Amino acid sequence: MLEEQSLDPNHHDRQAFVSGVCELDEYLRRFAVQQSKKGITVVRVLVDTDAPDVILGYYCLSAAQIDAVQLDDRTRQKLPRYPVPCFRMGRLAVHAAHQGRGLGRLLIGCAVERCLEARKHVAAYALVVDAKGEKARAFYEHYGFTPCRDNPMTLYLPLIWHGLENKG
Ligand SMILES: CC(C)(COP(=O)(O)OP(=O)(O)OC[C@H]1O[C@@H](n2cnc3c(N)ncnc32)[C@H](O)[C@@H]1OP(=O)(O)O)[C@@H](O)C(=O)NCCC(=O)NCCS
Repeated sequence: MLEEQSLDPNHHDRQAFVSGVCELDEYLRRFAVQQSKKGITVVRVLVDTDAPDVILGYYCLSAAQIDAVQLDDRTRQKLPRYPVPCFRMGRLAVHAAHQGRGLGRLLIGCAVERCLEARKHVAAYALVVDAKGEKARAFYEHYGFTPCRDNPMTLYLPLIWHGLENKG
């Protein structure tokens, strides 16, 4: 069974993780644990409970804000002019041996779910991501993320458009 867990250096094998993007692999090996401890980010990993030490994929979430001028005209008109509170998925990667099997999609779903949970307590308008290349950008656009006006490698997904508004 697939399960999303908090990164635990005592249980998850960070060294064996290879996504094909060195920067993302290096981050998991060298910086993810430290940055989690410092409260800079939350790192969540996807594992199969039959082999729970193997990291199939991971993503990072932090609080963020985005300048309203980065948003498309229609969205911007509805929002205040000061920076808009958001969550940022700073990194997302799936193990190279498991790409193309829907795990990236699953991880985005997990991240959105986390954001919606957190938003019951702290407001945020959208989930922002930083694409590490054109392929990643296309992947995010496939899921309805919109590129920012000044930097198309940063994209956002308004959380309210999913009809998953806070019910509680
Ligand atoms: C990008 C990445 C996270 C995608 O994960 P994945 O598990 O391979 O993708 P999935 O199998 O979940 O694909 C889900 C959907 O996205 C689509 N998709 C995948 N890559 C795509 C791309 N580059 N452009 C457009 N659509 C893409 C698939 O066709 C699939 O569509 P469907 O659900 O309509 O059938 C993964 O390939 C990866 O880790 N790449 C290296 C690191 C990276 O680039 N990270 C991106 C963040 S910076």
